[in-house]
Amino acid sequence: MEASAVQPHGGDLAAASALFPQAPRPWIDLSTGINPWPYPLPDIPANAWTRLPEPGQERALCAAAATAYGVADPALLVAAPGSQILIQTLPFLRPPGHVQVLAPTYGEHAPAWARAGHQVEQVAGLPDPQGPLPEVLLLVNPNNPDGRIISPAPLLALAEALAARGGWLVVDEAFCDLMPALSLAPRIGRPGLLVLRSFGKFYGLAGLRLGFLLGPDGLVAAMADRLGPWRVAGPAMLVASQALADIDWQAATRARLASARQALQRALTGAGIVPVGSTDLFQLVRSPAGRDLWADLAAVGIWTRRFPDRPGLVRIGHPADAHDFGRVCKILNQ
Ligand SMILES: Cc1ncc(COP(=O)(O)O)c(C=O)c1O
Repeated sequence: MEASAVQPHGGDLAAASALFPQAPRPWIDLSTGINPWPYPLPDIPANAWTRLPEPGQERALCAAAATAYGVADPALLVAAPGSQILIQTLPFLRPPGHVQVLAPTYGEHAPAWARAGHQVEQVAGLPDPQGPLPEVLLLVNPNNPDGRIISPAPLLALAEALAARGGWLVVDEAFCDLMPALSLAPRIGRPGLLVLRSFGKFYGLAGLRLGFLLGPDGLVAAMADRLGPWRVAGPAMLVASQALADIDWQAATRARLASARQALQRALTGAGIVPVGSTDLFQLVRSPAGRDLWADLAAVGIWTRRFPDRPGLVRIGHPADAHDFGRVCKILNQ
């Protein structure tokens, strides 16, 4: 594999090993924005594996998600095996039109809309609600990879203006568990406002594959129809129903991630590396002049995320323990 090969996402340690065969193992994987301190897995009864998931389990999951996200009614959300599948399915739920994606952002949105025949434009700023508008406006809040945040008020004004012409505002809130006050989930139900939530990142259980679409009930029902029955695995529903209801764990995790962010930020700035954006789950930094930080870290077994279309930028997640943190600091300071 070429060192210049495109790395569309983090988390691919086989690619890391192919690119850096000499790097010491095991890899310290900081290439995703996934919480390294996951929700503790409960015991899973054998019948969660052997029986088909029952509708009652899904109702319990959606009720827990509605409460956790502040959605007024569980009928305003649908669960899916990860928000990625929702990202790819949503564009087929309306006729092709003009879609604006607030960029730079998570790279899966624009191609998903293009694949469904929409005309996709990447824009650098929000449109004026009084001016010309696309049919669909899509953004990630807080944004990946730069942590940009947009407060609810301008988004609600845009949602209203878009809805008035049959349009949609789609907000991917994959990282919004970190900042619940930012979420538009409590406003769900009004026409044209759609929100995507990802379970895996904040709860540190990305492999469980769970996400939600929040929106007007007709749209949620249309998505449920598209995805078909038994959308989410029984064990995933069991774990997530518990995690979404565990407000003590959620509060402790928010505090832990906030202080981890400060520690990582201190380590970076102490090494003369200035973060250009961040959330409590990751830092986006620019390689110091004359240095390829991504390659330096990879050479010693620390896998981070780079962006081939934005050379020099590196996204770094949290090391899971003091040992890994020390290894990262050592390389940063070299
Ligand atoms: C902004 C954003 N949205 C959605 C996803 C998809 O996440 P998942 O399918 O695990 O819910 C990701 C994954 O990295 C992401 O960064």
